[in-house]
Amino acid sequence: MRIGTLGAGMMTEALAGQWSRAGHEVLVGGRSPDKAAVLAKRIGAGAGTLAEAAEFGDAVLLAVRHEGLADTLEQAGAAGGALGGKTVIDCGNAVDVSDFSLVTWEGKSLAEQAQHFTPGSHVVKAFNLCHAKVWQMTPPVFDGRPLAVPFAGDDKGKETARLLIADLGCDPLDAGDLRQARHLEAMAGHGDRDHPATVRRLRPLLGLRIRQSWADRPALHVQVSLPAVTDGTATRQWAWKPCWCTSTRAA
Ligand SMILES: NC(=O)c1ccc[n+]([C@@H]2O[C@H](COP(=O)([O-])OP(=O)(O)OC[C@H]3O[C@@H](n4cnc5c(N)ncnc54)[C@H](OP(=O)(O)O)[C@@H]3O)[C@@H](O)[C@H]2O)c1
Repeated sequence: MRIGTLGAGMMTEALAGQWSRAGHEVLVGGRSPDKAAVLAKRIGAGAGTLAEAAEFGDAVLLAVRHEGLADTLEQAGAAGGALGGKTVIDCGNAVDVSDFSLVTWEGKSLAEQAQHFTPGSHVVKAFNLCHAKVWQMTPPVFDGRPLAVPFAGDDKGKETARLLIADLGCDPLDAGDLRQARHLEAMAGHGDRDHPATVRRLRPLLGLRIRQSWADRPALHVQVSLPAVTDGTATRQWAWKPCWCTSTRAA
């Protein structure tokens, strides 16, 4: 598959790096061509402008800070239909990094905003729940179980997303249509201005052992492990394992 990236940061390096190693053709698109070229070289990809990456990809990874969403899509030519018919994988988290509170647009998600700016494309929300370092694991397996990756979008977009999730060695977990992105994004925002979400605050809620040195770090990234189907019935147990903790418990 040909994959273009809109963004040349940590998430692009992690995800597009995996896809490049899996044999896909990748073109890294950044607002700074020099930065895109440096990253592209590291992951064995080509580099170009945002518009070139949009044009190149059958699928496009949207990996920018939420403040840059509108500008990035404008430079990619989205309003003119440059992403029409393509799958756009949005891995973004719309959080205010000063306190890790969630940013929404009248209750709508970042992914729905991306869909709004890209008429005719198939936006899928995926990969927003783990730190970039998790996406660099080969493969992301915890306690012997592959990481389950929830994704949300329309059927055509999800067909592509399913393949790209599997390329990382992860288990695709269909979370429904794009409205469900609101929930996936909400899982990444835990705080408010007076109560910033730190690892220390979340520990009792999740019943986790943590490294003390991580206790006051922001608890942004929560990783969803494979839902264990225990006895052949539909019962599923979710094991939550934020990337900063040392053990899990089934919730
Ligand atoms: N890093 C993680 O572990 C992680 C995990 C899950 C989800 N996410 C989400 O994934 C998205 C990408 O994260 P990342 O870590 O790859 O970010 P990043 O390394 O900080 O940068 C990603 C890209 O965003 C661009 N950008 C930043 N501010 C911009 C602005 N105001 N206007 C236009 N472009 C802008 C950067 O361009 P320049 O290089 O030119 O500055 C860069 O190409 C974010 O929404 C983040 O919340 C990140």
